[in-house]
Amino acid sequence: MTARSHEVAVAGDAPYTIHIGADLLGDGALLARSLRGRDVMLVSDRNVAPLYADRVAAALQAARPEAQVHRHVLPAGEAAKTLAHFAEVTTALAEARMRRDATLFALGGGVIGDLAGFAAACWMRGIDCVQLPTTLLAMVDSSVGGKTAVDLPQGKNLVGAFHPPRAVIADTAALRTLPPRELRAGLAEVVKYGALGDADFLDWLDDHADALLAMDDAALAEAIARSCAHKAAIVARDPFEHGERALLNLGHTFGHAIETEQGYDGLNHGEAVAVGMVLAAQLSEVLGLAPAADTARLRALLQRLGLPVALPSGLDPDRLLAHMRLDKKAQADGLRFIVWDGIGRARVLAGVPEAAVLDVLGR
Ligand SMILES: NC(=O)c1ccc[n+]([C@@H]2O[C@H](COP(=O)([O-])OP(=O)(O)OC[C@H]3O[C@@H](n4cnc5c(N)ncnc54)[C@H](O)[C@@H]3O)[C@@H](O)[C@H]2O)c1
Repeated sequence: MTARSHEVAVAGDAPYTIHIGADLLGDGALLARSLRGRDVMLVSDRNVAPLYADRVAAALQAARPEAQVHRHVLPAGEAAKTLAHFAEVTTALAEARMRRDATLFALGGGVIGDLAGFAAACWMRGIDCVQLPTTLLAMVDSSVGGKTAVDLPQGKNLVGAFHPPRAVIADTAALRTLPPRELRAGLAEVVKYGALGDADFLDWLDDHADALLAMDDAALAEAIARSCAHKAAIVARDPFEHGERALLNLGHTFGHAIETEQGYDGLNHGEAVAVGMVLAAQLSEVLGLAPAADTARLRALLQRLGLPVALPSGLDPDRLLAHMRLDKKAQADGLRFIVWDGIGRARVLAGVPEAAVLDVLGR
């Protein structure tokens, strides 16, 4: 496939555009388009900053010579998504004397996007944030939709705000330095969009699995654009997750239970979601909602993409069920799951019997 850039418009009270293509981090005119004033704070992490921060700063500076580009670099990984590091970013904004017309650029994966986005949401009650996602997960999920947050010791994403970005610029070439396991984890979220609402997209993913794993820019750009278009449409219809946005959690109730039970030291998030989606499909089968052939198709695609499709051995079904009872999505009316009536037709189902869940977990 030949490389081509894509643009996805996100509607809502604060509309913005997602730009997707190879080498966009060096496109100064595109990066500078979002600036209101001349002050820029580039926030990144210790893995990503050495790879890409100079390129972004130089491109911005070339396009807008009067720009003042400051940088703040945080440790890499989920452990950095804390209130303490959030405070560190706001202190950096204060020391750089950022005003209301300043722009924060979040250069990194979902951790930087969430934390820096939250700092932008709070600094002077909200400044512009441009998301520059560098992981596939961040490109197809966390940079789109305006959810920002940090973690507390008591749980993930407990303190945060809705703050839509001013623009999202996803450079597919940046994925070449991503560890392959992180790329595959992002592909699980890509498959999720097809599984929940677009059977044709799953066919396309089947046809392009090899190109995606080989990091073909055109295939990646198309997969990202189609995923973002799905998320954008859902978010526009349900910005604050009162209904349909919950479908984006397909596979996540099982997935979170696995991650929690493994102490966040086993499957990564995307891998847990891959297993979770297969379990959600099996649950739909057990409940008589969908044919086994659809589960088999989903499983085969995930396997082709190098993702796990079965519960890791040694996990106790009763303990997994206990985690699910505590899940944010569990409500007074019992266990709540995203199930499907077949590929591309996901829906929320409340009051799922525990016996059916245990059946799927193999007890
Ligand atoms: N806001 C939302 O709607 C939303 C949605 C989904 C997930 N999230 C959040 O996203 C976070 C996970 O994001 P993630 O998977 O991107 O993790 P991450 O930000 O920790 O990135 C994964 C690792 O890859 C490194 N990295 C990033 N880009 C790289 C590149 N191009 N080359 C080399 N290394 C690179 C990072 O330094 C890190 O070590 C979680 O905190 C999760 O809660 C938020």
